[in-house]
Amino acid sequence: MAKTPCVLIVDADIQARFETKQVVRASGLTMAGECGFGMEAASTASELQPDVILMGVAEPMERPIQTIESLQTFMPETPILVYSVTRDLDTVRKAMMAGARDFLARPVKPETLRNSVLAALLTEEKKRLRQMGQIPSSASAGTIVTVFGAKGGIGKSTVSANLAVALAQMERSSVCLVDLDDGFADLADMLDVKPERTLFDLVRDLDMIEREDIGRYVAHHQFTPLDLMAGPSLLDWRKLHRDDVRRAIELLARNYDTVILDTSGSMNELMEMAVEVATIVLWVTTTEYASVKDSIEAMRVLRRLSFSPDRVRIVMNAVSPDDGVAPAVVQEALQQRVFWTVPYDKKVRQSTHLGQPAVITAPNSPAARSLIDLARAISGAGAGAEADGRLPALKWKQSRANGAGARAAE
Ligand SMILES: Nc1ncnc2c1ncn2[C@@H]1O[C@H](COP(=O)(O)OP(=O)(O)OP(=O)(O)O)[C@@H](O)[C@H]1O
Ligand SMILES: [Mg+2]
Repeated sequence: MAKTPCVLIVDADIQARFETKQVVRASGLTMAGECGFGMEAASTASELQPDVILMGVAEPMERPIQTIESLQTFMPETPILVYSVTRDLDTVRKAMMAGARDFLARPVKPETLRNSVLAALLTEEKKRLRQMGQIPSSASAGTIVTVFGAKGGIGKSTVSANLAVALAQMERSSVCLVDLDDGFADLADMLDVKPERTLFDLVRDLDMIEREDIGRYVAHHQFTPLDLMAGPSLLDWRKLHRDDVRRAIELLARNYDTVILDTSGSMNELMEMAVEVATIVLWVTTTEYASVKDSIEAMRVLRRLSFSPDRVRIVMNAVSPDDGVAPAVVQEALQQRVFWTVPYDKKVRQSTHLGQPAVITAPNSPAARSLIDLARAISGAGAGAEADGRLPALKWKQSRANGAGARAAE
């Protein structure tokens, strides 16, 4: 960057503007100007053409959000960074969803501001180069967890929904759950959300989408910060190509820390892609003969397609003490360690009738506790995932779920 980046401060609070101006100068950046919210912001930004817009936000967020949105209309390539005295996550989230690139706690340190401005400009520059075809689009940044299983009705959606909610509840990071079941999409009902758009819309608009638009394609869960990318209708699925769906997933992974893919029980090109694109595959099976047998067959197919089993973690679901089939037996059959067991728990079924996953309706039930612990294990894995997307060895965890969701035998 040859010239010193220049900054426009947008803030309704004159005192805060004054303070921020000092910080901009102390950080070695140049001031382009300052103004208040609304149309004044859009017209000043158009006139001054700053490199970066630095905006003060506070609740109520309606006006700041409107201002961010109109600035993006007039200045789509100018990054907006926001600062605030609030530490309220909801405010942070609203600003980020509206399109802010970074959220800085006030008082802002000059060094923090400088780093944030330079990082935003670098991202913008990379985006421009990518659009001009000068650098290939980057690999997914977030962790992609594919919840796979070689059969229907074995608990894939149950594991996906509970895991996603547990992760969204426990982490400060963002989580998007994607309904990739090309049969019947269940997740919107399981989470009681009413999506206005589906993955079909995201794929259709893929070439025009900016990072800040993503929020318009997902549905927001009522009780947690989880976002759901709802599944297309059966007819819409037929119009989608798997490579485009993959691009959509990679786009989501660049925008969320964790993307969870719920899959169907069939082995088709779409599901192979879901396994291929994953940082980690949670392979769900029950102890039933048919489920284990189908898993063996599916693994054989995937190995033939050069898929490495390193990323697979077996999750044995709905395990009951009278099953008679021990994890060790399944392990031997699959030639793969069983990573996690989730107990059979009638609260899981009851939660379906209550319209929310068990981790919300019955968080102390054995299955919910096991799934919450699984989320903890996954979140550790996400943080430790290596640059090439492969996972380091996961620590096996002892579940607190009455011993029922205990770690599987090694
Ligand atoms: N650990 C569990 N204990 C008790 N019931 C469970 C458990 N896990 C799942 N179930 C129940 O099993 C049924 C099937 O679960 P789910 O819909 O998650 O399976 P699926 O693999 O996603 O099926 P499909 O392939 O049809 O989408 C549901 O009624 C669910 O409540
Ligand atoms: Mg399902």
